[in-house]
Amino acid sequence: MSITLIRPDDWHVHLRDNAMLHAVLPDTARRFARAIVMPNLKLPVRTTAEALSYRERILAARPMQSAFEPLMTLYLTDNTPIVEIERAKASGYVHAVKYYPAGATTHSDFGVTDIERCYDALAAMEALSLPLLVHGEVTDSAVDIFDREAVFIDRILQRIVARFPRLKIVLEHVTTRDGVEFVGAAPATIAATLTAHHLLLNRNAMFRGGLRPHAYCLPVLKRERHREALVAAAISGNPKFFLGTDSAPHARRTKEAACGCAGLYTAHAGIELYAEVFKEADALARLEGFASLHGPAFYGLAQNRARITLVEESWLVPPEIDLMPAGIADSLVPFRAGEYVGFRIAEAGA
Ligand code: NCD
Ligand code: ZN
Repeated sequence: MSITLIRPDDWHVHLRDNAMLHAVLPDTARRFARAIVMPNLKLPVRTTAEALSYRERILAARPMQSAFEPLMTLYLTDNTPIVEIERAKASGYVHAVKYYPAGATTHSDFGVTDIERCYDALAAMEALSLPLLVHGEVTDSAVDIFDREAVFIDRILQRIVARFPRLKIVLEHVTTRDGVEFVGAAPATIAATLTAHHLLLNRNAMFRGGLRPHAYCLPVLKRERHREALVAAAISGNPKFFLGTDSAPHARRTKEAACGCAGLYTAHAGIELYAEVFKEADALARLEGFASLHGPAFYGLAQNRARITLVEESWLVPPEIDLMPAGIADSLVPFRAGEYVGFRIAEAGA
């Protein structure tokens, strides 16, 4: 069995920088024509000038002959000036602005403490049609970690949507039935990305036979009824839902630690894992819309011209990826390490 798709794009990926960038970029570039690159570097990408120089480093790290195109984002802070939003839009290379509530996740210390401080920037984004990408979790430690997305929607996202009715917003890596229902009922300006791991796993995966740091990400995995709602959204054909892997590499020693980092590395099987989900749901015919068509339509970008063919054939994911060739004395434990993925890429267009 094989399936040919318009080449997909990844609408949410962490490519990191320097040695890690060199180690992980080939996996993304092999599968995806373009990717929305998250700006949460150690020193976040807060200005257009920083986004443009990060873009150059990504282009320089591409494998030979790769036409992979990074779509850059800015990291929203309490003080992002309107002029920076204008510069971002005018550059033609910055496609969105990412809102991390301060303290919500990896490298979010520079994030937003109170979204009302950003209302001038949001008004500028609305006027210029520059989308806001949202990490939708409250950071209030009194809120149970499994409820943080639903509470974020009630306390914050609803307010933003009401206040800025023409602002395009993506609820990134939506993980709950509440989130899917909110997006489904919201105006056409509101969309969501879905990760492969939240489609494939429920929260039991974090505790299978013991504590599993390689199944820990943010937003954290949820219960089965939420996973089922995510799969239903992904295969629905609704253009509000599209692919965003949230592949987030962390070296092994930083994951297998007393306080392990959040993030799963999935780029090595970035489209294949979604094919598994759609196949399992008997919805492979809807994969192309989800992976290759809905995202560009939302962002106002052209569809890719090249195609990619996936073959239903199992392959063994290596137990780890050595980072030494990239100059890091550690390794990366990929999703499904030592286990099988059910689809592989037959050929990838340029
Ligand atoms: C991401 C990372 O490591 O940068 N981690 C994660 O668990 N997804 C940050 C994020 O997207 O929340
Ligand atoms: Zn992310």
